[in-house]
Amino acid sequence: MKPRPAFDPQFTIFGHRGAAGCAPENTLLGFHTAIAQGVAWIECDVQAHPEALLLFHDDRLRRTTGARGRLLDTPLATLKTLDAGGGSTIPTLQEALAALQGRVALNIELKAGDAVAERTGEALCRAVEEGWDPAQLLVSAFDHTALQRFCLAAPQIPVAPLFDRPSPRMVEVARSLDAAAIHIGLAVATPIVLSALDEAGLPIHVYTINQPALADRLRERGVSGIFTDYPQRFILRD
Ligand code: G3P
Ligand code: MG
Repeated sequence: MKPRPAFDPQFTIFGHRGAAGCAPENTLLGFHTAIAQGVAWIECDVQAHPEALLLFHDDRLRRTTGARGRLLDTPLATLKTLDAGGGSTIPTLQEALAALQGRVALNIELKAGDAVAERTGEALCRAVEEGWDPAQLLVSAFDHTALQRFCLAAPQIPVAPLFDRPSPRMVEVARSLDAAAIHIGLAVATPIVLSALDEAGLPIHVYTINQPALADRLRERGVSGIFTDYPQRFILRD
């Protein structure tokens, strides 16, 4: 039986890749910035490098580190010499779990790499054994087969399927995963789709929203939370 994730009953703000608009994305510096801005949830991206699970969004290194090449083809020792922004290194999932335990809840999005679902499942099972509360963890993916494989590896961790386009199978996919939430892109969050998703009876979280007025409109349509690059616009404005 999966626990219910510790979402904000009013409205959940997820710091997208930490606080990607304010600090280097997917870095411990960015995660600490998001926490300082008051978020209770941080979203990050995980890739299964041959030597470690790494928090990194892109396939290529250039945009965030200035280096040439692909993340998954570069030795870990080389990756660890790169500046991912503000002097931060590319963190391993392990490093982030150790740094953040008890300070924030973590939405880990499965991206690329060999056996990313199984390896992340094993890592999170270990994290729970070592004291992470499973209600403070949520794993999501656009690849719903990978999410299914994650559930087999870590049945006690809550999951949320991601959708970047509408599909008539959204509720069915969420049910088949025993999902705790449904995560959708802004283009998917139309009144028609949102009303169809009501049937699932699950929180709907929308990415990536950086304008408070837009978040207010989504909230009026029944959306339960958003991902943002600028958490302070949403948290410190009241
Ligand atoms: O998990 C929400 C969002 O992060 C999905 O898109 O490309 O920013 O990882 P992306
Ligand atoms: Mg992501």
